Amino acid sequence: MSVDPLFQPYTLKHLTLKNRLMITSHEPAYPEDGMPKERYRAYHVERAKAGVALTMTAGSASVSRDSPPVFNNILAWKDEVVGWMRALTDECHDHDCAVMIQLTHLGRRTRWDKADWLPVVSASHEREPSHKAFPKKAEDWDIARIIEDYADAAERMKEAGLDGIEIQSYGHLMDQFWSPLTNDLDGPYGGSLDNRLRFTFDTLRAIRKKVGDDFIVGIRYTGDECLPGGLNKDEGMEISRRLKDSGMVDFLNVVRGHIDTDAGLTDLIPVQGMKSAAHLDFAGEIRAETNFPTFHAAKIQDVATARHAIASGKLDMVGMTRAHMADPHIVAKILRGEEERIRPCVGANYCLDRIYQGGMALCLHNPSTGRELEQPHEIPEAEEARRIVVIGAGPAGLEAARVAAERGHQVIVHEAANDPGGQVRLTALTPRRQEMISLIDWRFQECTRMGVTFHFNSFADEEMVRAESPDVVIVATGGLPHTEVLGEGNELVVSAWDILSGDVQPGLNVLVYDDAGDYAGLQAAEKIAGAGAKIEIMTRDRSFASEVMAMSLTPSMRELQKRDVTFTVTWRLDAVRREGNSLLATVGSDYGGVMRERQVDQVVVNHGTRPLDDIYFELRPGSSNLGEVDHEAFIDGRPQEVVRNAEGDYQLFRIGDAIAARNTHAAIYDALRLVTAL
Ligand SMILES: Cc1cc2nc3c(=O)[nH]c(=O)nc-3n(C[C@H](O)[C@H](O)[C@H](O)COP(=O)(O)O)c2cc1C
Ligand code: SF4
Repeated sequence: MSVDPLFQPYTLKHLTLKNRLMITSHEPAYPEDGMPKERYRAYHVERAKAGVALTMTAGSASVSRDSPPVFNNILAWKDEVVGWMRALTDECHDHDCAVMIQLTHLGRRTRWDKADWLPVVSASHEREPSHKAFPKKAEDWDIARIIEDYADAAERMKEAGLDGIEIQSYGHLMDQFWSPLTNDLDGPYGGSLDNRLRFTFDTLRAIRKKVGDDFIVGIRYTGDECLPGGLNKDEGMEISRRLKDSGMVDFLNVVRGHIDTDAGLTDLIPVQGMKSAAHLDFAGEIRAETNFPTFHAAKIQDVATARHAIASGKLDMVGMTRAHMADPHIVAKILRGEEERIRPCVGANYCLDRIYQGGMALCLHNPSTGRELEQPHEIPEAEEARRIVVIGAGPAGLEAARVAAERGHQVIVHEAANDPGGQVRLTALTPRRQEMISLIDWRFQECTRMGVTFHFNSFADEEMVRAESPDVVIVATGGLPHTEVLGEGNELVVSAWDILSGDVQPGLNVLVYDDAGDYAGLQAAEKIAGAGAKIEIMTRDRSFASEVMAMSLTPSMRELQKRDVTFTVTWRLDAVRREGNSLLATVGSDYGGVMRERQVDQVVVNHGTRPLDDIYFELRPGSSNLGEVDHEAFIDGRPQEVVRNAEGDYQLFRIGDAIAARNTHAAIYDALRLVTAL
């Protein structure tokens, strides 16, 4: 038997979990019509197959019609869910992976205009800052019907063959009853702690009545809201003890904090640049106090920390949730002795941020996640080995090289800089975004392991490429900042990348004009503000940093709001003129009829990149496809067979920002889709 603490089986009631690694509940927004169908199933089965012991499915599966999904959640109030959950559970069970589901009523954490236009309901009229719906204060008949809804949903999950359920109780209806900040009911459900907990225990009793004593029932809850006037740690401990003593709960899944604001949610689920394992000690304190099965997840993204969480006795089961989105095969890799080959979660939070913008959860640097059906994680070997030249070693080029090498091709990479990484290397210069470099390091390490040849400081031209006699050439040269957006004075401005790279020193009184709205503008502003400058960040949009999603914005705001920084929306930079030692900026508005001026000593423009495509156009005439891509084949994962020039010596493709400015996920996905079919 393994001596690794992570591989000690764990017994929970009658259930034996084969190791200590779990995926905590997270809704990736993959349901179709509110049901976990093929895409959903494939996502969980991929991770079950690779050896995770327990997968907590859904995330906030809805038990009632007045808890409409906020991010495409499973509708656990429909009987139809039983068949879909049974199919998912059976297939995970085939791989010895236990399956549970998180059930909830969102309370005020949703909107009334999401589904059936029923009023949102809570234990007070206080609205949640994030979702902004003013709730109805629950009446006795609301409470009675919602308790029954929980019990019915639990019964459906038992019928579907699941191993258990957990009730969500942080930021949702259950703990909206708990917290003095969100419960102003009179008795019997408001007032004293006993009363505020009554809804929970009534619900648990109703659930037990339907599912019996053997079915596993747990609760995922906050043990400390970390909010003035909210539920504090002492009350959290008291609640933990009472949950255990109730005899109705089989495990505690602990979180710490509150989720009613973007910043609160980000502290509860830390992102890139924030502390790893931030709440592990707290969860350990609850385990020590209760001596009861304790689960927990919050930025435990590496195996060593997970192992420590178990070995130190802080947890019984450790969640590595985003880590499994980045690499579904963590357990298999540990078991094969290939821990160093695990694709690291870099905390970019693209996955979680996207669901709040109506998209499905995608991993920034693993495009197969959520696309298991059409884009398998395991790259098939090619029938015939080819010679592939990749130009550029940014994320797109490295992914192309990695996938080509996995397919057994011979791969040569030319990179003009002396290191791999492209724009990501610049991004990672900002201390709080350092983790980004891991997505480059991991690819470079994989490429090196598979024998890819790298030429650094190598500015490829046609002669050099032809000398390699390639079958395929992939241009992944990325882009260069584009700042020529002004009617006058383009030569007087600098780019966000100039600031980030250190090529230009920050000024003292700076206008950052950011109409790309991506990270580069914010990161440049952080660097300039950090140097002590006064900054105005201006955009013509209705909101600033429109491409940086909610949780990712949090650490940045914390940096900027400490400094001398103002934000101006709906104003457009039109021109810059020199005036003595300073610059005079003229600003207008898309709404028309107004003009203002700003006197500054530096203007920084962030307006995305333009493709660096000279080499592509140089190589085009000599290629067989003249650079043309068959989009249908590209989308369907079929080989590219376009021939436009029978005399051509090689196929030619471009990927990533070398085509048009997009993001890291798009660049990597381009590479994966193209090369998997080469
Ligand atoms: C896409 C996504 C959706 C999530 N949805 C839920 C949810 O509905 N309920 C929940 O309790 N936690 C949810 N979580 C939080 C995770 O369960 C977990 O606590 C969090 O990701 C921190 O753990 P990690 O650092 O191991 O990823 C979600 C996480 C992600 C990435
Ligand atoms: S998007 Fe970022 S945080 Fe989410 S799984 Fe991928 S690497 Fe991790």
